[in-house]
Amino acid sequence: MSSFSRIPYGRQTVTQEDIDAVVETLRSDFLTQGPKIAEFEEAFAAYVGAKYAVAVANGTAALHLAALALGVGGKSRVLTTPITFVASANCVLYCGGSVDFVDVDPESALLDLDALEIKLKKSPGLYAGVIPVDFAGLPVDLEKLRSIADRHGLWILEDACHAPGASFRSKAGTWEKCGSGKWADISIFSFHPVKHIASGEGGMITTNNRALYDKVSLLRTHGITRDTASYQNRDMAGEGAWYYEMQELGFNYRMPDILAALGLSQLRRAEEGLARRRAIARRYDSAFANSSAAPMIPTESELHAYHLYIVRVENRRAVYDRLREKGILAQVHYVPVHLQPFYRRLGFGPGDFPAAEQFYSSAISLPMFPGLSDSDVDRVIASVLESVE
Ligand SMILES: Cc1ncc(COP(=O)(O)O)c(C=O)c1O
Repeated sequence: MSSFSRIPYGRQTVTQEDIDAVVETLRSDFLTQGPKIAEFEEAFAAYVGAKYAVAVANGTAALHLAALALGVGGKSRVLTTPITFVASANCVLYCGGSVDFVDVDPESALLDLDALEIKLKKSPGLYAGVIPVDFAGLPVDLEKLRSIADRHGLWILEDACHAPGASFRSKAGTWEKCGSGKWADISIFSFHPVKHIASGEGGMITTNNRALYDKVSLLRTHGITRDTASYQNRDMAGEGAWYYEMQELGFNYRMPDILAALGLSQLRRAEEGLARRRAIARRYDSAFANSSAAPMIPTESELHAYHLYIVRVENRRAVYDRLREKGILAQVHYVPVHLQPFYRRLGFGPGDFPAAEQFYSSAISLPMFPGLSDSDVDRVIASVLESVE
């Protein structure tokens, strides 16, 4: 494994196999709208255990289409977590709905399910749905969330961008994968290069619901269909093979075949990458066990996918600056969404979600990606230990 002079917090691993897969597609008849899309979708659906998967241009497009398919519109109020990338909330606004937040659990930094239920009880019927985020790769307990959502008539859009391969243990003792379609109505993933599976840009939507699958498939490509059985224009029945119908106002959110070929090739190594991420996490965990850098340890009911490895420290700014001086490009995930200027203009502000703000003030994401060597990890550990108070 290579050593890095400057160590980023996340980085793709591209092998000769990946390159060959892309080149093969470049030489084929289809750069887009070809066979690699369906192949990638089928393989990804099988990987997470869902019935249907739809490949799209990126994770944000996946969120947008999923929100539209769930019927988000002008009257919809939707809840999400402030500790996420802005896209998890923005997708609701794209559809004309409005967003509210639920504070996070101080330990896991995941949406606090008890706080959610309290909020729902206070305003019966106000909210249409909830967007939980498997933040950092830690799976949300979707079984518990499903029962809350059912009690209050909410749909669930799971943002699993950080968590392909993560799972939680159900009450019955079974391991339940993120994006499996069993608990959430619909789930989404991203294939940005810092994620587990990199396709450059790319995203995936998974669901077990045929109607949602049909809807996102239609919206992905302008709302156009060539499925003769579903044609609506009775007066144009019997047109030639050129004919197609635009039945909804959709988008061009397609993933090109070139990127699907890369994603498919990367997916074949997904388990290998996860195993390496977990080994790196164990090395970090044991090094920080007796220090003031506090790792986020999963419970026995959570199988973490470690998109991010986060420690909480008292002197975050000093640790961040010291690591940078040493060529270690740590990051902070995330500036709470409700503190972004755009969201402040919608009425949110400091103090609204104290656990999220407290988490933000101490969290730092250390380098975590399969290409890190043990000596890279040890270099990060030594630098953290010398800079924490
Ligand atoms: C939690 C979360 N949701 C959504 C997205 C959006 O994905 P993309 O960058 O592929 O649009 C990201 C990616 O950064 C993310 O981390």
